[in-house]
Amino acid sequence: MATLLDEHKQRRLKRITQSIIGLPTLPTVITQLMTLIDSPKTSGRQVAQLISTDQALTAKILKLANSSFYGFPREISTVQHAVVILGFETVKSLGLSVSVLQRFSGPSDNTYFDRQGFWEHSIACGVSARLLAGKLRYRLPGEAFAAGILHDVGKLILNQYFPTEFAQVIERMRAEDLYIGKAEELVLGLTHSDVGSWLAEKWNLPGQLVDAIGYHHAPGRLTRNAELPALIHLADFLCRREGIGDGGGTRMPTLDPAALQVFGIREEPKAALRRIFTYGEELRREMEKADAFTRLARGETDEDSPPPAEASSEAGEDPEPDAGPEVAPLLTHALPEPRPARGRASRLHP
Ligand SMILES: [Fe+2]
Ligand SMILES: [Fe+2]
Repeated sequence: MATLLDEHKQRRLKRITQSIIGLPTLPTVITQLMTLIDSPKTSGRQVAQLISTDQALTAKILKLANSSFYGFPREISTVQHAVVILGFETVKSLGLSVSVLQRFSGPSDNTYFDRQGFWEHSIACGVSARLLAGKLRYRLPGEAFAAGILHDVGKLILNQYFPTEFAQVIERMRAEDLYIGKAEELVLGLTHSDVGSWLAEKWNLPGQLVDAIGYHHAPGRLTRNAELPALIHLADFLCRREGIGDGGGTRMPTLDPAALQVFGIREEPKAALRRIFTYGEELRREMEKADAFTRLARGETDEDSPPPAEASSEAGEDPEPDAGPEVAPLLTHALPEPRPARGRASRLHP
């Protein structure tokens, strides 16, 4: 994990976060899951056993695993089965996403922050990251999905613990037509990415996720392991362009060209972005399938939701563990093997 902040920001972050009392925690089972996953010796069986100790989480995971988002033709009836079918990585990411979604579900307490819109944007970014993972040959679509869901989590913390300042951020963003990160810098001296990565560290999330949250607006600041932050950076653009949910105002963030270089895309940034935007239709189709996640974020109970689609038993072999949506990697003709980003990226629109 890289050191994200300069000294000045570190001090500011410390001052701000020290005043946070009663930080939301993740359920113990998820914390244990993160530790378990960190060990290379962990088996799928151990993961399944741990998740099974939490009945509510198990039920949620099974419901989502059986939703059309994953599109498996046969019913997945146990967590063990889910680990085999969806893969270790996807079940872990799903558990984490479900826990955070539930922890912060339902409407916001204040009027200036649209939490429903926030979650719609975040889920869209997760769906978009999973979609782009297929296009750009990022090998962990489940991880990409969780990173997308969590990328803006810092905004939830700012909204919950600094409502007055965050209201000023939103007000300034709207009044001056600023990108939200710029308004946060002006009002708070740091951004939701800084606060989000701090929280992710507190939660002991894997380093890849901490970096994806901390660098999703500037992946070029990483000198290595920039793939996931770069993927989230591009996914964020795609879902903001499609106008799904509330990504924070109408002003788009600045494109970091390093995000393209990470995936070996050598096209001129605007042209590359235009090409990424052509996946908008597919994103919308995938979003429809991700409805079960949106309902979870709205705080709807199981009784509110329609029964899952009938699982057909006539299909043949189970497909590969979650390989993301079935799409041809359209960008690949422009893509040599991924290589790490180097140095600090130049800005497209300074
Ligand atoms: Fe963001
Ligand atoms: Fe975002």
